[in-house]
Amino acid sequence: MKRQLVFATNNQNKLREISNIIGDRYELKTPVACGILEEIPEDQNTISGNASQKSHYIFDKIGVDCFADDTGLEVEALQGAPGVHSARYAGEQKNSEDNINLLLQNMAGVENRKARFKTVISLIIGGKEYQFEGIVNGFITTERHGTDGFGYDPVFRPEGYDVTFAEMSLEEKNRISHRGKAVAQLVDFLKTL
Ligand code: IMP
Repeated sequence: MKRQLVFATNNQNKLREISNIIGDRYELKTPVACGILEEIPEDQNTISGNASQKSHYIFDKIGVDCFADDTGLEVEALQGAPGVHSARYAGEQKNSEDNINLLLQNMAGVENRKARFKTVISLIIGGKEYQFEGIVNGFITTERHGTDGFGYDPVFRPEGYDVTFAEMSLEEKNRISHRGKAVAQLVDFLKTL
């Protein structure tokens, strides 16, 4: 029988990406499916702090094995912004189109386009917390390319590729992405239990 793990997200894109990797041995459940209908707080000032806050929120509430991820896009020429504020970069509406517009505006004429995505996963299993981190280096393009993926995908081109994340298949993105790398570590760890 598959073991159950609550994944502290209501983002269907993330759920699909991670189920695709982790799906064989674990059944992922959303907070909503467990009766947690409110928005899960994430107001810490680091990516790792936010991941931890979200997993603890689920654990404190319903006491089950669970994990949460938090991701930030760190742009070198913007001193690491939007970073932990990636979701709300252009405002509380948390809109990806607005976020991309603001990013392209702030990067207009900037030569150094280096950026990286960082994901931290906080897993609470058997009442103990473990963290896993994944990073992918790349560049911010000067305009949008591609329609797949979500968030900043249309303007992020990973190092060594000539397409953006939004021009890749889900499998291809998962193989090299920040979240893919963090999830691979999570999966390796779960196999040792
Ligand atoms: P969070 O991890 O949901 O807080 O994500 C923070 C912000 O980064 C949101 O605006 C997401 O849309 C964006 N984001 C997270 N993961 C990815 C990704 O894999 N590609 C592009 N944008 C992402």
